[in-house]
Amino acid sequence: MSRTKLLVFVSVLIVLAVVVIFQILNNQDHFFPGYDDILQDPYLLHGQELSLIYCGSCHVYPDPSLLPKTTWRFETLPAIAPFLGVDPFSGEGIQDARRTNPYVPDHIYPSEPMVTASEWQNIVDFYWHTAPDELVREISVPEIIIDSLFFSSQIPVFETEAEPVVTSVTFDEQSGYIFVSNSSDLGLYIFDRNLEKVNHTILESPISDITLIKGEADCDTNVFLATFIGNLFPSDAPYGSVRKGIFDPIRSTADFDSLIYGNLARPVASQIADVNGDGIDEIIINEFGHRDGSVFLLEKDDENNSLQKEILIQTPGCIQSYVLDFTGNGMNDIVSLCTQTDQAIYLFENKGNNQFERSTLLQFEITAGSSSFELVDFNDDGYFDILYTSGDNADFSKIFKPYHGVYIFGNNGVNRFDEKWFYPLHGAYNAKARDFTGNGEPDIAVISYFADYENSP
Ligand code: HEC
Repeated sequence: MSRTKLLVFVSVLIVLAVVVIFQILNNQDHFFPGYDDILQDPYLLHGQELSLIYCGSCHVYPDPSLLPKTTWRFETLPAIAPFLGVDPFSGEGIQDARRTNPYVPDHIYPSEPMVTASEWQNIVDFYWHTAPDELVREISVPEIIIDSLFFSSQIPVFETEAEPVVTSVTFDEQSGYIFVSNSSDLGLYIFDRNLEKVNHTILESPISDITLIKGEADCDTNVFLATFIGNLFPSDAPYGSVRKGIFDPIRSTADFDSLIYGNLARPVASQIADVNGDGIDEIIINEFGHRDGSVFLLEKDDENNSLQKEILIQTPGCIQSYVLDFTGNGMNDIVSLCTQTDQAIYLFENKGNNQFERSTLLQFEITAGSSSFELVDFNDDGYFDILYTSGDNADFSKIFKPYHGVYIFGNNGVNRFDEKWFYPLHGAYNAKARDFTGNGEPDIAVISYFADYENSP
């Protein structure tokens, strides 16, 4: 080959390579399109319109980018279809779900389909064509090192007969007792400081939360507020309750029969505090429920000595509430995390005279899997910031999500919050900011319940 021919040949090769690379890049663009060009197609555009009408009607609108297309198509959308009264496979109307769960609130499953079979298919096709092939974790984290620098473990010499399913653990710093509720044998186990079992009581249902009642606890008897979940697994059945419990270590007796309030659907946390400032304590209850649920206050009505229920919010999945003067006006407010249909952190601002004004501090996506939060002033500016974990992964899209992890949202001084820090962690379930190292700065301890055990948490 002459020199000129060789040059021409090489030049052609280079041009070809550039064209091929350009094509590949262009095609890749197609995989993560932001879907504007795809939505030139009138059929898909109509699918988007339908999704905007229906998919944003019960919760925050779920953008296709939240999940990969195969998850949408084969897992999430078939599970969601009954909420629109549609059989996911034939597109026809479904049997009334109330027959299998009589406690489901009436408004949850429509008895007539909200969309036709072809409209449903149109929505499915819209998600299929606009969702990414896979979700990519863009932030890398340093490899996790296993060491026991700060903590060591101590294991009690004790075994349950059935595999344990622990639903709550409470440690009373004052007495040193540890209260453990195990759902698999309905046992409440009480251990002393040395992890010796000092009491075992069979319960009516698992306990989801135990709070020591301040002022009543002394060395001899422990008095606490116990939250009985009723049904551990998803249900709206009103089998839960809050009760007063007494544990007497000298006689080694424990009693939980003193009912305070019953007929609750899966309550998961309750506490006692004088929220309205009248000198009498109220009980604040997070009733998780399933399709319905609430956060409410129980107030003592002096006239007939009964308890009045005041609902702060009616939505399922509320798991955690703090009672504190959040706004700094001298009155106690309540801040709650709800984690199911409406995933948000709410402020119930105390306006006096038992009036609470609700505002949303943070709103999360429907796939966030919100799991816990704490109010911590990280930068010492006098305002609460929010430490939040997102990682529950047990519902209708059980794939690892790059946006699950630990977040810090900074308070800008007027209770608006911006994301300041994110640490990706599959299955993040709880985070506690404490000064574990003793250097005067908060550290964060995190646990994960749905970790990526094969690769890295
Ligand atoms: C009638 C109310 C209703 C409508 C309409 C509705 N949803 Fe939902 N959706 C729910 C409820 C309730 C949940 C919570 C389910 C749970 O966690 O048990 C949910 C959960 C979800 C989730 C989270 C799934 C997961 O990973 O846990 C996604 C995603 C979702 N919906 C998408 C959609 C889409 C897309 C549409 C429109 C086709 C839609 N929803 C329409 C009630 C509805």
